[in-house]
Amino acid sequence: MSKILSIENLNVIYRIPEGRRHVLRDVTLSLEKGQIRAVVGESGCGKSTLVNSLIALLPENAVIESGRIIIDGTDMLGSGQSNMRKLRSSKLGVVFQDPFSALDPLYTIENQMAETINIIRKTNRKRAMEKTAEMLEACGIRNPEEIMKKYPHELSGGLRQRVMIAMALLNEPEILVADEPTTALDVTIQKEILQLLKKLAADRQLAVLFITHSLDVAAEIADSISVFYGGRVVEEGRIRDIFNFPLHPYTQALLKTIPSIKYGKNERKLMPIEGEMFSFLNETSGCSFAPRCPYARKECFEKDPETRMLNGHSCACVLEEVW
Ligand SMILES: Nc1ncnc2c1ncn2[C@@H]1O[C@H](COP(=O)(O)OP(=O)(O)OP(=O)(O)O)[C@@H](O)[C@H]1O
Ligand code: SF4
Ligand SMILES: [Mg+2]
Repeated sequence: MSKILSIENLNVIYRIPEGRRHVLRDVTLSLEKGQIRAVVGESGCGKSTLVNSLIALLPENAVIESGRIIIDGTDMLGSGQSNMRKLRSSKLGVVFQDPFSALDPLYTIENQMAETINIIRKTNRKRAMEKTAEMLEACGIRNPEEIMKKYPHELSGGLRQRVMIAMALLNEPEILVADEPTTALDVTIQKEILQLLKKLAADRQLAVLFITHSLDVAAEIADSISVFYGGRVVEEGRIRDIFNFPLHPYTQALLKTIPSIKYGKNERKLMPIEGEMFSFLNETSGCSFAPRCPYARKECFEKDPETRMLNGHSCACVLEEVW
């Protein structure tokens, strides 16, 4: 497999009246063609900030302080804002949690999809319609011509999300970024959308960065996981390794919060993670999980733990026992 996306030591801050909120901290991850990587973490840990950095849609008070975002060999951050947007729209498609707010209620599906193609490819209307129908079909919609005539409010949540995925793929991007795309859907539809994304990744060699707060969902879709805590990747590895041999105390705690583990041998009891969630309000040093970690020692509060690698599985924790 070849690498299509590489994020290296990305640091992003938000300027706030009290000073700065350092939300992405040395984030490093990569994605290969045909691979699905889940980014998993609690609400507020920085997942959407990562997505918005990738798609060049950070709010005005955000600053990328350092790091690199390399897409297919090109450093996006060194390309200037307008080049960056151009590169992004040719290489990267995005799906958000709420397809209803992402679709324009005043236009039929065919009009908004054909418009998207025209902006990108400047093709004629007939070809744009054919391409729209092809893509809807590839996204599991059996009656594309009928769906194309409808307005967003006439579609179910699951159908709207299929339409959003088809729209994101119209330009045949090599990377699809999906920010909690199934959170608003019921469980059966959620499973169908996850299956669809897996099929698209396999059939089209599409690289998928799948953002979720749920390890359950990650287990169902991903090949690899990056576990986020307090704006850092605290653990990274193949899904089986993370589920069977979680190294970081936060990953271990997170695994205990889900009812059954697909890749584990035993059913585990549901346990909440104790202590308060990480707050970005104060610039802290040391391990961000230290205030909640049952194994925390003095040094954990003093300096950032280094990320170490073992058999392709990485973890940012000082504990020798986990190695
Ligand atoms: N424009 C902004 N200015 C200041 N702080 C912000 C801004 N946007 C987000 N934040 C803060 O940055 C942190 C990370 O937010 P982000 O939306 O990236 O988290 P998330 O992991 O996507 O959360 P969720 O799971 O709830 O979607 C949060 O503490 C959030 O309050
Ligand atoms: S570095 Fe220390 S506080 Fe952080 S997870 Fe490891 S043991 Fe816990
Ligand atoms: Mg978010």
